[in-house]
Amino acid sequence: MLRTNTCGELGIKQKGKEVKLAGWVHTRRDHGGLIFIDLRDRYGLTQIVFDPENKKEFSAAEKLRREDVISVQGKVVPRKKGMKNPKLKTGEIEVEVSKIDILNKAKTPPIEVEDRKEAGEEIRLKYRYLDLRRPIMQKRLLVRHKAAQAAREYLNKENFMEIETPLLIRATPEGARDFIVPSRVSPGEFYSLPQSPQLYKQILMVSGMDKYYQLARCLRDEDLRQDRQPEFTQIDIEMSFIDEEDVYKLSEGLIKDIWKKAGNVKLKTPFPRLTYEEAMDKYGSDKPDLRFGLELIDVTDVVKDSDFKVFKEAESVKCLNPEKEFSRKDFDKYIDFCQKNGAKGMAWMRVTEKGLESNIVKFFNKDIQKELLDKTKAKKGSALMFIADKKKKTDEILGSLRLELGKDLDLINKKELKFCWITDFPLFEWDEDEDRWSPMHHIFSMPQDDKMKYLEEEPGKVTGKLYDLVLNGVELGGGSIRIHRKDIQEKVLKVIGMEYEEAEKRFGFLLNSFKYGAPPHGGIAFGFDRMSALLNGINDIREVIAFPKNKAAENPMDGCPTEVDEEQLKELHVKVEKVKKK
Ligand code: AMO
Ligand code: AMP
Repeated sequence: MLRTNTCGELGIKQKGKEVKLAGWVHTRRDHGGLIFIDLRDRYGLTQIVFDPENKKEFSAAEKLRREDVISVQGKVVPRKKGMKNPKLKTGEIEVEVSKIDILNKAKTPPIEVEDRKEAGEEIRLKYRYLDLRRPIMQKRLLVRHKAAQAAREYLNKENFMEIETPLLIRATPEGARDFIVPSRVSPGEFYSLPQSPQLYKQILMVSGMDKYYQLARCLRDEDLRQDRQPEFTQIDIEMSFIDEEDVYKLSEGLIKDIWKKAGNVKLKTPFPRLTYEEAMDKYGSDKPDLRFGLELIDVTDVVKDSDFKVFKEAESVKCLNPEKEFSRKDFDKYIDFCQKNGAKGMAWMRVTEKGLESNIVKFFNKDIQKELLDKTKAKKGSALMFIADKKKKTDEILGSLRLELGKDLDLINKKELKFCWITDFPLFEWDEDEDRWSPMHHIFSMPQDDKMKYLEEEPGKVTGKLYDLVLNGVELGGGSIRIHRKDIQEKVLKVIGMEYEEAEKRFGFLLNSFKYGAPPHGGIAFGFDRMSALLNGINDIREVIAFPKNKAAENPMDGCPTEVDEEQLKELHVKVEKVKKK
């Protein structure tokens, strides 16, 4: 046996016990003729002591370096007075070593295995095994593990079946770019990797599985961000004979259990709900951060009779009242910020003793100025920031400015957890570039019953049975009640300009399955990496993925993606155009 105990469990109770420990040399201190080593494993640190009387062991200890792997035998003794460390679980004791085995020597590590000393991203990913030895990384993955177990326990209890869906599939129309895999057996043909199990989970409903879940790997060839990886994990759920309320109830129970078991937090349910329209109007975002107010104020009607052309002619004019004074330099900074977010400009007004003050105030008569002050409830010492544009753009730009001000003015309580459902999403959005309607979520979502009548003439008015769960400004999950009837599916496809024949070609297998008795069904998928990050109080999902990709979608540890042998390409009937390396 290499160890009798871990490095995180011994205390005064084990006083006098003969134990064996194994782990990594975390630190070595020589003083008072003795050598003290903090021995580390996943469970913690234990101080072990080498006495010079014990010649052979002592001289071995003298040669120990950080990250050497050793096992030791010795006796648990209380630490001397003044030497106790209340911050450490094992801080009351140490182990007097009588025997040491050096299991493996380590080269000087290129990054420190130390929570307080974080190396750069690239080197952390290159030496991920060292980075993952850091207690904080081990804790993060443990929280993720607990969340996965809690999810499984909850869903099992609710009668769900965990079913795996294939990784080599026909392209799914989920909206991002597919990763593709050439087939060796069928030259010139390709599999796609799933962007999500969407079609397969729906077919499982047609198969009568009733309640399905999977901790599913999803692969999407998109540009990466802090909360986006090319491969990520979803808690993927689908159910038959249900409506939206069933999904909300199940999800709230699931989230509550996960936060209790993995986060030690008791959440209050039900979560508040906002329609998409309300969220956009008030917060300028369909994933609003509700940890602070600073709502958008609509002044379109107030300023339409002013002499300021920019405002008079705009579809929508809205402003923020951060209830704070700003300097010219501050305003310039926020103007710049808004312009980077697509604004034509950002107008501002200060509220002083004499009323409103700015370079554009002359265009607003006294009545309008008064109305502005009333509507915005702006008091002396605050400032108003305005955006005028098309409605959606005004909302989105001010939504970003709201977040920026929230950060800058420290309005966000980092300890708070503000969940909310966003409901009643439009089914389609107008794609300016492509000059056509495109699905807001995916093409399998059911229109709301009372909006079905607008499908042909006014698709912009059709809201769907769609919902997102948002936490602190992060989209944690999303789903919908699905279309299970051919006639409705045909109409929806027509709106986005896809002929039924084209649809048959691309995912006819799903449409065909619907011909043989499809139950009404729906579901949701939660971003499990985002969930794990938020459970750990962070936003960057790479911190909760053991081996993530960097910003260029590479893995600096194994070096992928890489070129492959000519031989392999030949076998796959693939020819590669030579491209110059960056
Ligand atoms: P959707 O595409 O909204 O829905 O994805 C569901 C959730 O997955 C997370 N997510 C991501 N996480 C990390 N990296 C990514 N690249 C990434 N993309 C998405 C988000 C998101 O809310 N099949 C549907 C679900 C359904 O309708 O049931 C789907 O995949 O947290
Ligand atoms: P201009 O008439 O373009 O010189 O703009 C006068 C002021 O209005 C400047 O402070 C601009 O930043 C601001 N402004 C211009 N366009 C917009 C807009 N679309 N929304 C809000 N403010 C704007």
